[in-house]
Amino acid sequence: MRIGVLASGSGSNLQAILDEGLPVAVVVVDRPCGAIELAERAGAPVEVVQRESFGADFDRAAYTDRVVDALQRHDVELVVMAGFGTVLEKQVHDAFPSRILNTHPSLLPAFPGWRSVQDALEAGVKVTGCTIHVAVPEVDSGPILAQEAVPVLEDDTAETLHERIKAVEHRLYPETIRRFMEKHRL
Ligand code: GRF
Repeated sequence: MRIGVLASGSGSNLQAILDEGLPVAVVVVDRPCGAIELAERAGAPVEVVQRESFGADFDRAAYTDRVVDALQRHDVELVVMAGFGTVLEKQVHDAFPSRILNTHPSLLPAFPGWRSVQDALEAGVKVTGCTIHVAVPEVDSGPILAQEAVPVLEDDTAETLHERIKAVEHRLYPETIRRFMEKHRL
């Protein structure tokens, strides 16, 4: 029952996963970020697999290999993406087939991509939400495990709307991970 969490940001979803008592074997980050301190405070091992480039010269395949290696060194059985900012190549799916989960701040298939909260706001939808799904090589696709709607309020900014979505993710993601593990006897 060993989970590897991938994170790049503030780490609030990581914190929710830790608070739920899920067995986090390692936290892998691609850059300096808030998730590192949260992991250390919880006593979870951290692997900084530093992404060296954000430009056209970025070797995504080589980077993916380094992430897979870090996860395998910690005997990870389930990979949980929690705001990870690097799209990984197919090798990670070969190494963990149907064993990578993701949370996305929209009701997929609406508003895929990294600007999803802003895109929902600009589209003028009155309801958006979050989606927990099994990750596949195509970004923001794959079997949906759970979704929950979140209202868009009149005076929302991308920040206030994202915070309201995250509050739902913090409950829905850990409980969905737990259910997935029980179903697959992880
Ligand atoms: C979440 O809203 C997640 O859906 C998206 O990135 C955000 C991560 O936030 N992919 P945090 O780092 O867990 O606070």
